[in-house]
Amino acid sequence: MACQRNEELQELLNEAKKVANEGKVASYIPALQRENPDTLSCAIAYPDGQCISAGDIQKNFTLQSISKIITLALVLMDYGSEHVFHKVGMEPTGDPFNSIIKLETSSQAKPLNPMINAGALSVTSMIKGKDATEKVEYILDFVRKLCHDPEITYCKDVAISEFTTSFLNRSLCYYMKGAGVIHGNVEEIMEVYTKQCAISMNCLQLAIIGAVFAGDGICPVTQEEVIPKNVARICKTFMVTCGMYNASGEFAIKIGVPAKSGVSGGIMCAVPGRFGIGIFGPPLNEIGNSHTGMRLLELFQEKYDLSMF
Ligand code: DON
Repeated sequence: MACQRNEELQELLNEAKKVANEGKVASYIPALQRENPDTLSCAIAYPDGQCISAGDIQKNFTLQSISKIITLALVLMDYGSEHVFHKVGMEPTGDPFNSIIKLETSSQAKPLNPMINAGALSVTSMIKGKDATEKVEYILDFVRKLCHDPEITYCKDVAISEFTTSFLNRSLCYYMKGAGVIHGNVEEIMEVYTKQCAISMNCLQLAIIGAVFAGDGICPVTQEEVIPKNVARICKTFMVTCGMYNASGEFAIKIGVPAKSGVSGGIMCAVPGRFGIGIFGPPLNEIGNSHTGMRLLELFQEKYDLSMF
């Protein structure tokens, strides 16, 4: 078991917040830099539907790269693993999340995994729908089901801010399109991708999604299967090997649970068979993971022995 009381969780948050000034809020997507670095919120969702939380849990934030695990689950459910892994690989890169280098040096220009931007863009290019609007709605419907909230939507400001400044991601798309790895209209892929990254929720909703993965695809609120067990297993494996970017190895050693981070400062953990964790702490470390969130997870690990290893 982890924390059972909101007060106990709040004490850990207070401790983790002490390192807030060592991190830096993301600014390369201009709309993200408005966040207050002192914000830190966390929720834990248990498989029986119980939740505990601390900090400003009403505060919404955008999923950014956390959305990559959700779209991966969706395409695996729609097409099966053989089709998906024909277009994106299974190996960690050790490179920053937006790096183009491995596309150039690998023989097929196939992105190495779905957690780096190139791989996530390839996954987004597979999302079903006749146009960007239908594709975004399809992703949103899945997210609404995962966190059992029909109101979930994306933040228009953040989506536009990234869409108008995302030159590197466009380059990744055009490179892959040139190499025949992805097909379709790059502007449409970019529209869907920037909107999926801008999906907005609070840490309680994120913890519930974490609990779905932790519970092999069973929604803790309804006890219904929302993701097949095998898809949840593949997603959790990617969360361990590449979910925290080029700090995934260090994270596996220090914390030892499947996790996915985003540049807005969100971290989702799926502690297998135990619970889901949702964290929002905007200041990032040099790799791009939430600095206060990482500190909080270190405190969890010390106190509740999170590691699955
Ligand atoms: O593609 C991007 O750059 C962002 N929308 C998402 C990047 C991200 O969250 C990586 N994070 N650690």
